[in-house]
Amino acid sequence: MLLTKFYSFFCTLAMAQGMSFPKKFCDVRADDLSKQCYLKETLAAMTHSPNQLAVDKATNTLYFSFDFGQGEYLPAVLNIDTKKVTVLKGVKDAFAVAHDPETKDMFFGGSHGIYRYNPKQKHLQHLTMQNLDIWWLFVKKRIYFIKFPSLNAYYYDNRTVKHVTQLRGKMVHQFVFDYDDNVFFINTTGLYGIQRDSDQPILLRDYPRFLGMAMDNKGQIYACSDDAIFVVSKMVQKVKRVVNIQGVLGLTFDKNNNMIYSNSHEIVRLVQVSNDNYYDALNTLSI
Ligand SMILES: *[C@@H]1O[C@H](CO)[C@@H](O)[C@H](O)[C@H]1NC(C)=O
Ligand SMILES: *[C@@H]1O[C@H](CO)[C@@H](O)[C@H](O)[C@H]1NC(C)=O
Repeated sequence: MLLTKFYSFFCTLAMAQGMSFPKKFCDVRADDLSKQCYLKETLAAMTHSPNQLAVDKATNTLYFSFDFGQGEYLPAVLNIDTKKVTVLKGVKDAFAVAHDPETKDMFFGGSHGIYRYNPKQKHLQHLTMQNLDIWWLFVKKRIYFIKFPSLNAYYYDNRTVKHVTQLRGKMVHQFVFDYDDNVFFINTTGLYGIQRDSDQPILLRDYPRFLGMAMDNKGQIYACSDDAIFVVSKMVQKVKRVVNIQGVLGLTFDKNNNMIYSNSHEIVRLVQVSNDNYYDALNTLSI
């Protein structure tokens, strides 16, 4: 059962202990009891990229898109290991980006509909659907999407477009299905969950305003707001803050399940490091 119960752990700064060797500063501390330290690694500096990011886990390649002017977004391919960025040619407008974990295909959606790209064969295909402006894509056995400007949710099946039953008649900004086929979605009111075989949305959290969501490699659902990233825990449905970070717009995970986010000017990976070797910068400077 989905329970509407929330916890958020406020950051309490740990005291720096006496050290016999110099430590480095920690960029970001987890907001929970683990106080896990993360370092920020800038993968690309890119102004005005939309909020959907997706990683091809087989090759650890990040796909995102950037504003090419006149409201057109071009898909970009970032090799996470070498940080080399290339532009994928042939896609007209790629506002939304998604990865199919089964077929390893990438999907792009925008004002010209949906494209499917197979990175291994370098094969690009435009799916034939009329008058489709895509706001959001999610692929799990089917190609799910949100149409712009209605913000209604649909999927593509046998060359026809059908309503996502649970989300019919709802304005949704983003949605994902977890491994158990529960649906999670965000709109301007909050973060909601709908259990499989139900059509009753349950409000999981209404504050702060959620801007993006993603599922990690273990099937956990994350959501981001203007100043933090949250995780929806599995057993009891509660939403807790993971880290405080300003201006997060989009979220995804690399092949090792490291968090990658975008803000208005860059794409950053959070790399976990051992707590033993890193100071809290704030703590050290506060005396
Ligand atoms: C797909 O659509 C075509 C034409 O609308 C129909 O004849 C066919 O039976 C459909 N296939 C499936 C698997 O639903
Ligand atoms: C967001 O979704 C919930 C659940 O369907 C709904 O009650 C609420 O009115 C929606 N908010 C907006 C702004 O559409």
